[in-house]
Amino acid sequence: MTNESTAKPLFKTFNSDKLNLPNRTVMAPMTRGFSPGNVPDENVAAYYRRRAENEVGLIITEGTGINHPSSVSGAGIPLFHGEEALSGWAEVVKEVHEAGGKIAPQLWHVGMTRSKGDVPNEEAEPVGPSGLNLDGEQVNEPMSIGEVEEIVQSYAEAAAEAKRLGFDAIEIHGAHGYLIDQFFWKQTNQRTDRYGGDFTDRMQFAVEIVEACRQEVGEDFPVIFRFSQWKMNDYKAKLVDTPDELDRFLKRLTEAGVDIFHCSTRRFWEPEFEGSDLNLAGWTKKLSGKPVISVGSVGLDGVFTDFSGAGKANLDGLVDKIDNEEFDLVAIGRSLLMDPEWVKKVQEGRTDDLLAFSKDALHKLY
Ligand SMILES: Cc1cc2nc3c(=O)[nH]c(=O)nc-3n(C[C@H](O)[C@H](O)[C@H](O)COP(=O)(O)O)c2cc1C
Repeated sequence: MTNESTAKPLFKTFNSDKLNLPNRTVMAPMTRGFSPGNVPDENVAAYYRRRAENEVGLIITEGTGINHPSSVSGAGIPLFHGEEALSGWAEVVKEVHEAGGKIAPQLWHVGMTRSKGDVPNEEAEPVGPSGLNLDGEQVNEPMSIGEVEEIVQSYAEAAAEAKRLGFDAIEIHGAHGYLIDQFFWKQTNQRTDRYGGDFTDRMQFAVEIVEACRQEVGEDFPVIFRFSQWKMNDYKAKLVDTPDELDRFLKRLTEAGVDIFHCSTRRFWEPEFEGSDLNLAGWTKKLSGKPVISVGSVGLDGVFTDFSGAGKANLDGLVDKIDNEEFDLVAIGRSLLMDPEWVKKVQEGRTDDLLAFSKDALHKLY
């Protein structure tokens, strides 16, 4: 049972070269679709503020669309360009900072997971490295070099805006089968130019994005990079099969300018490679020496797809892994969606008061 004193390692300060946080908790990025006209409004600001008021160390926003016509799909997904959306985000930053929190936007392009006709910009075509969707179907032409370069630039512009608006860091969404991950993944990247080829070549797009963002934000601003093995349509997919491959992946991204890796797994307690208990974040920290964020089913009994599964399990194992420095930070998704006071309650040893996740939380912005 987790009580106030056993949870202590979660509440040690986090200090790194560019980012210091009061504790080890992070709000995982979660798409909510509650931004009318793709502009985050006062309800969105209050939603994030509530988490900041309740001791979340770092908030990573829901994915927010960079400046490209097909960067997002779906009503209410916030954009990260244009005066209206950016002033909405400025209010979010203000509210979170007033409550003593820190916040990073998650910069997003969905690539080929978009369908033509999706809002906003119904006419915009989905774009991806080879025009293949995640199931390998050819639905469009491969992106031209011009389009690739334009999108790299849009990420850089978004990074510059994030810094200008007072955000504390940026997170680049390179996970789950969206555009950047579509370049990483062999199944969706069959290019033969400099953006395709072997695994290291398929990293070129991400490397250029990180370098371009770094150039805009300068040396001192924290750049977080989120990646995953799993894809939206395939939980068993692998980007890397061995620690050696992971090492190569991390080295290139570190050289490009990543400060913190956010290693997305569905269950934080699952070992990544045979012969070691380390999870993906644990391996990433060991190989790169960089601070890492782990994530996956904290406070939940259920698996990722089973939205009814809920509970208060796993906190002891989590605390041990932080205490043993397997990873530095832990992101909490659904538990924090359900219960804005989740972190504060754990800090105060009030685990009996935690609200168990229910799928109703997905339909409310609270
Ligand atoms: C409603 C919902 C929306 C999500 N949206 C995003 C997103 O925009 N970007 C992202 O990287 N991950 C997204 N995720 C994945 C979460 O960030 C997190 O990795 C996942 O929920 C596992 O953490 P949990 O078990 O603590 O919920 C989303 C998850 C949920 C449940």
